[in-house]
Amino acid sequence: MSYIDDIKKRPIKEDAIILAIESSCDETACAILRGRTELLSSEIESSMTEHIKFGGVVPEIASRAHTAAISIVVERALKNANVQLNQIDAVAVTYGSGLLGALLVGVSYAKALAYALKVPLIPVSHIRGHLAAIYLADDKLQPPFISLLASGGHTAIIDVKSYSEFEILGGTLDDAVGEAFDKVARVLGLSYPGGPNVERLALEGANSIELPKMLKGKEGYDFSYSGLKTAVINYVHNCEQKAIEVNKADVARSFQHAAVEVLVKKSVKAAIERGRTVVTAGGGVVANGYLRFLLEKTCEKKGIRAVLPPKKLCTDNAAMIAAEGYIQYLKGNFADLDLNAVARVKFE
Ligand SMILES: Nc1ncnc2c1ncn2[C@@H]1O[C@H](COP(=O)(O)OP(=O)(O)OP(=O)(O)O)[C@@H](O)[C@H]1O
Ligand SMILES: [Mg+2]
Repeated sequence: MSYIDDIKKRPIKEDAIILAIESSCDETACAILRGRTELLSSEIESSMTEHIKFGGVVPEIASRAHTAAISIVVERALKNANVQLNQIDAVAVTYGSGLLGALLVGVSYAKALAYALKVPLIPVSHIRGHLAAIYLADDKLQPPFISLLASGGHTAIIDVKSYSEFEILGGTLDDAVGEAFDKVARVLGLSYPGGPNVERLALEGANSIELPKMLKGKEGYDFSYSGLKTAVINYVHNCEQKAIEVNKADVARSFQHAAVEVLVKKSVKAAIERGRTVVTAGGGVVANGYLRFLLEKTCEKKGIRAVLPPKKLCTDNAAMIAAEGYIQYLKGNFADLDLNAVARVKFE
């Protein structure tokens, strides 16, 4: 009997222990989750410091770093969870979207592990993982709700109708919000990754620089971060040409305000229009303190509940892959051993 035929005969367990692997970019991560929400461990090794001097992630360096780190991270996750390999009921893995070489390390490792343990292999979309991180923050939370996705590669407002039914209400027409944070950071001379450094600098500045309103006159749920980013870059270059000293903290604060305000406004608007009582969020930019503050404050004013993942579950991690993996496990959504890494996975 083939691996997959054998696997499909297994009973589904409500309290299954899932080992999840994430290696789509520069973080090698492994997490162990029991049932829907009991996170037993979540370990991350990052190769970030190796990329800083290049101003962004270098795929080849990331792949090599994953190869060196993956066994160590998995062993650490098992040890910290106090779980033996023979207790694992399923292996979940990010198969896309991401850097192909980086994804392949995780996918190959997960395939070998699932085959050796004779347990299901669950393919997980990285973006679905970002959205599922929220279930680890609130074990009672259930769809429907509005979800704001704000990461390095994505910006969207999504009506999450059920665990597997998503309607994208709008998204970015050009750059993602995280990408804009990273590019603004670069023009301000801050190192990669830009988001946390822009946030830190913004704390010392004032929202004093007028920046263009995004998609002025358009009331839908789309975003455009390219114009905002270019306006900031032009402002800095203009000042430099006129030998005017740039107050970098003011630039950081003004950009952060403009970038975040529109995300919050559109998320809350979507909740009101769709009659949803909860707004959630996921992705690296959701670690931003100002976004978290403004979303919570605005929701409170409108009588809507804001549920946000803890900051460490916003940026890439394997706990979110385990959370989505569990949803797929209950549906029996298993892959065979020919599972491949995919650079771009369609969201739905
Ligand atoms: N505190 C913060 N404030 C603003 N942006 C932040 C903060 N922390 C991280 N970011 C941004 O989040 C992004 C990283 O998020 P994430 O790891 O979700 O992106 P990714 O995995 O590269 O892309 P995707 O998830 O869309 O495939 C970077 O652009 C980073 O600058
Ligand atoms: Mg991500």
